[in-house]
Amino acid sequence: MKTRVISSASQAFTPDALRRMPRWMLVLLLGTLLSCASTSDPPVSQCPQPRFTGKAPAAIYNVTSPLVPGAGDLAAGRELYEGGADPSCHLCHGIEGDGQGPMAEGFEPPPRNFACAKTVNGIPDGQLFWIIRNGSPGTAMPGFKQLRNEQVWQLVMYLRQLAQ
Ligand code: HEC
Repeated sequence: MKTRVISSASQAFTPDALRRMPRWMLVLLLGTLLSCASTSDPPVSQCPQPRFTGKAPAAIYNVTSPLVPGAGDLAAGRELYEGGADPSCHLCHGIEGDGQGPMAEGFEPPPRNFACAKTVNGIPDGQLFWIIRNGSPGTAMPGFKQLRNEQVWQLVMYLRQLAQ
């Protein structure tokens, strides 16, 4: 049964089948193929990516995360990144962290590309924490004052995971 379904699908676009197809259907098929070919993919975020974010005060810049690597905090960070934080990080930074979220287009500078290890690995924990908490003036990055410190550190942990 299964093999019959597969073989009938592969027969759908044989030259013979195309000849028997009504003209309108051919036009539709061609139109779909052409529109697929002409819509260009969104531009890929740069890696390494230039940063336009100000530096955190020295006292926080060098702080390392108090969280020990663990599945619970990582899952909590992911949940915040993908939906819990308001506005949700993935809208700008992308669900894969590539900086290509649905709202990313039109922001100058563009959102940070967390998937780019070359850029993100060079940014200390304290800097990531400070910007999530306070935002980055002059960019679209908002501050998340409503999150508890622990939640911000969970986000930092998840950002590090995206960069691997
Ligand atoms: C409205 C869009 C938007 C949302 C929502 C958003 N960001 Fe950003 N983010 C940006 C932009 C734009 C930048 C600036 C990039 C730059 O400076 O080059 C940025 C920068 C950052 C940086 C800068 C790190 C550095 O020093 O280079 C961090 C960390 C960050 N975002 C984390 C987050 C997290 C975590 C969330 C969710 C809790 C979030 N962002 C939500 C747009 C957004």
